[in-house]
Parts: sequence; C-alpha cells; structure tokens
Amino acid sequence: MIKVLFVCLGNICRSPMAEAVFNDMLKKTGLSDQIQADSAGTGNWHIGKPPHEGTRTLLAEKKISCEGLYARQISKKDLEEFDYLIAMDAENAGNIRNLAGNQHKAVIRRLLDDVNDCHTEDVPDPYYTGNFEEVYELVAEGCRQLLTDIKKEHNL
Ligand code: 4NP
Repeated sequence: MIKVLFVCLGNICRSPMAEAVFNDMLKKTGLSDQIQADSAGTGNWHIGKPPHEGTRTLLAEKKISCEGLYARQISKKDLEEFDYLIAMDAENAGNIRNLAGNQHKAVIRRLLDDVNDCHTEDVPDPYYTGNFEEVYELVAEGCRQLLTDIKKEHNL
C-alpha cells in the first residue's frame, strides 16, 4: 500500500479537504486498494474536531464525503508509516522537515510544487481568508498532479 499524509496547520480546513478529494479520486479511478490517504496538522488546537464548516460545505457541494474525519496532530511515527508527506504550505513543510530530521525515507513536499503554471505554491489558509472555493480548486489541481506523479513513480 502506498500511503499519503496531507498536512496543514490545524487539520480542519485544507488537509482534510485534500484527504477527502484525493480518496474520492482514488475510488473513482479504482486505485483505493493500492494508494490511501490520511491527514494531520502540525498544531494541536483542534485535535478530535471534525472538518471546518467551510470545508464540509464545499465537499458537500462537490458530493465528496468527509464522514469520519477528525483532526489529529502529526507525530514522528507518521514519518515511518507514510511514503508521501504532502504539505499545504512552506511553513507546514518546514515543520515536517524539523520533525523528520535527516533519517527518513518519506517524500516531503508541498501539494502545489509540481503543478505547472499555478499562481501560488502555497495553498492559502481559508481559516484566515474565508475562501474555501479557491482552496478547493487548488487542492483538486494538486491532487490530480500528485496522483499522476505517484502512478508514474510506481508504474500504476
Ligand atoms: P488549516 O487551517 O491549517 O487549513 O486546518 C487552520 C485551522 C485552524 C488554525 C489555523 C489554521 N488555528 O490557528 O486555529
């Protein structure tokens, strides 16, 4: 199983959206038994909480389920368990790298790093901007690219 962990700050807005969108893509492309996604936050403020109302509303509009998602904090164990740690922004990526040190096998990168012609490399935080639609568009684009990359790297 190829395991992907999406990481943001609070694990209530961006990373659960990415987890839900990516798992939906896997289901629709028949890859759920080969690749699976989870999400976590670098911060601990919202542990145990469901996704933010803005994320839930957006996902409901797109007919994507986020049932059973509850915020958790990333831990060092995730570095052993996951193959890809996908940060929403540069700050999250820096925090993951600090946690990881230099003894890890996981790929650590930002969701939008490989997306061509994207106006931003960081997914803006809708907790502050309130713009969940913009986040959805960026997350969907990033997830499509990530799936393309993983399929290529693993000959799927
Ligand atoms: P997220 O958004 O990292 O996309 O889940 C945030 C949620 C909560 C906070 C910051 C960002 N907060 O400071 O509580």
